[in-house]
Amino acid sequence: MSESSVPQADTSLADVHPADMPETDIAEEGGEGDLVVDGISKRFRTGRTDVHALDNIHLHVRPGEFVCLVGPSGCGKSTLLDIIAGLTRPDEGEVKADGQVVAGPHRHRLVMFQESALFPWLNTLGNVMFGLKLVRGLTRRQRLEIARSHLRLVGLEQFARANVHELSGGMRQRAALARALAPDPRVLLMDEPFSALDAMTREQLYGDLQRIREQRRKTIVLVTHNPREAVCLADRVILMSSPPGRIRDEFAISLPRPRDINTAEVAGYASRITMALRSYNDPELEA
Ligand SMILES: Nc1ncnc2c1ncn2[C@@H]1O[C@H](COP(=O)(O)OP(=O)(O)O)[C@@H](O)[C@H]1O
Ligand SMILES: [Mg+2]
Repeated sequence: MSESSVPQADTSLADVHPADMPETDIAEEGGEGDLVVDGISKRFRTGRTDVHALDNIHLHVRPGEFVCLVGPSGCGKSTLLDIIAGLTRPDEGEVKADGQVVAGPHRHRLVMFQESALFPWLNTLGNVMFGLKLVRGLTRRQRLEIARSHLRLVGLEQFARANVHELSGGMRQRAALARALAPDPRVLLMDEPFSALDAMTREQLYGDLQRIREQRRKTIVLVTHNPREAVCLADRVILMSSPPGRIRDEFAISLPRPRDINTAEVAGYASRITMALRSYNDPELEA
C-alpha cells in the first residue's frame, strides 16, 4: 500500500473499534491519569441467569502506576476493565478519571485486547494512523510521523507496509500497542494482551512493555489470570475472586526493573499470590 493510499478519516469505520470513540467526557486540561473506582457493582441478567459480576469494587490507581488485576476466569476482570474504559455501565458506583465521572469511552483511556483487533484491510502503518484520528487537529503528515515513531518504539519500523496477516501474533500485539499509545492516552487498559501468545514471544513482550513504559509513562491497568505475569509487570497486583466478583487483597511489588519473569523473586511473589487466590475458593485454606 502506498503512503498516499493510507486511509483518511472514514466515519464508516467508527463502529468497529473501541479506540475509535468520540471525545466525550473529559476536557483536555485536567489531571494526569488518576483513576478512582468507587463502589462499582454490576449484574448481568439474561433469561433465567443472574450473574453478580462485580460487587462493591473500590480501587485507586495513581498517575503513572502500573496495576495488574489477577484472578480466575469469570471473576469480573474484563467487566471491571470495560467499566473503567466506559464501554460498560455499572449498576452502582462510578469511575472517576482525573476527577471526572466516566460516562463513555475517551481517547485518554484506550483499551488493548487479547486479540489485536487490527483492521485487516489496513497495513501496519495504516492501523496506527487510524488510532490517531482520535486526536483533533493533526495534519496527515503529523499523523504519519507520530505513527512511524510508534512503530519504531515497538520495533516494527521494518513492517510499516506489511499486511496484518503477514505479521506474527507477537508482532500484531506490538502493532496494537503502537496503535493504543500513538494518541498519547493518559490511561492504557489491557485485557489479557499476551494470553494468546507462545511463552517465548510473551517473555519478549514483557521486556518490550517494561522498556516502553519507561519511555512513555502511562497509568496502566492490565488484566491477567497469570500471577507471574502480574508480578513481572506491576507496581501493585490486585487479587480478585468470585462469585460475586470482589477485590480480596493486593500485593505491592517492590522488585527492581526491568524484571525477568524467570527469577526466583518473581516466582516467590507469584506463589504467594497463587496460594491466596486458591484460598478464596477453599475456605479451609483461608487464614
Ligand atoms: N455481557 C454479558 N452478559 C452476561 N454475562 C456476562 C457478560 N459479560 C460477562 N458476563 C459474566 O460475568 C462474569 C464475569 O465475566 P468477565 O468480566 O468476563 O470475567 P473475567 O474477565 O474475569 O474472566 C462471568 O460469569 C461472565 O459469564
Ligand atoms: Mg476476561
